[in-house]
Amino acid sequence: MPAPDKTPSRIAGMFDAIAPRYDLLNHVLSLGLDRRWRDRAVDELRLSPGARVLDLCTGTADLALAILRKVPGASVVGVDFAGAMLRLGQVKISRLDLNQSIRLVRGDAARIPVGTATCDAATVAFGIRNVSEPELALAEISRILRPGGRLAILEFGQPAIPGIRTLYSWYFRYVLPAVGRRVSKHNSAYSYLPASVGTFPPPPEFAGIIAKHGFSNVRAVSLTFGIVYLYIAEKS
Ligand SMILES: C[S@@+](CC[C@H](N)C(=O)[O-])C[C@H]1O[C@@H](n2cnc3c(N)ncnc32)[C@H](O)[C@@H]1O
Repeated sequence: MPAPDKTPSRIAGMFDAIAPRYDLLNHVLSLGLDRRWRDRAVDELRLSPGARVLDLCTGTADLALAILRKVPGASVVGVDFAGAMLRLGQVKISRLDLNQSIRLVRGDAARIPVGTATCDAATVAFGIRNVSEPELALAEISRILRPGGRLAILEFGQPAIPGIRTLYSWYFRYVLPAVGRRVSKHNSAYSYLPASVGTFPPPPEFAGIIAKHGFSNVRAVSLTFGIVYLYIAEKS
């Protein structure tokens, strides 16, 4: 399978275009599981009250909001290069009166606009697969974390159990792009999703890539039969 085009302007334009329907499609196409996956990522970080967190590829800020629901006094900087996604995230943050706790900043994963060693934790939910140079993003995450800081990355995987794998492949390759196209009115975004997942490194390989960027205790935890993997690591 050829790797899809991940030119930053193309990816940002695609997310800007689907932004109005992004949250709805996320919840519907995952049957509501996306919230559980984000909650699990936050739980695994074991954040202390008042923790400072970077949420990279924050999109409409659902992971940033999950952190605030679970960690009293946390402060989150959400970074993303798609302005339309951030604007929708900002509406949700303002509605919940969380402007003092979550700050959204437009920026690229290759140059995270956050100071060195200033964060206790970093999260990336369903974003790293879209980044054109994921190793550069991991180096940047490593830079902004303090020693001992924790990283949680959620990304789609492929179920290992044969029957489930076949059923899921059919859903992911045919049903999801068709529903996504119809609801988002975008021709390629929801076909890009399975294509980008299919060319992403398998969990043990990606865990090794994380470890190469100054992280230890790297774990790849399978969620929902391996449909999603949660990568947990600690900055050395
Ligand atoms: C699938 S969405 C995930 C959004 C959110 N984290 C969530 O859980 O719903 C991926 C996001 O990554 C952002 N993104 C992709 N590549 C990026 C990059 N190089 N720098 C900043 N943001 C990026 C996109 O703009 C998009 O909002």
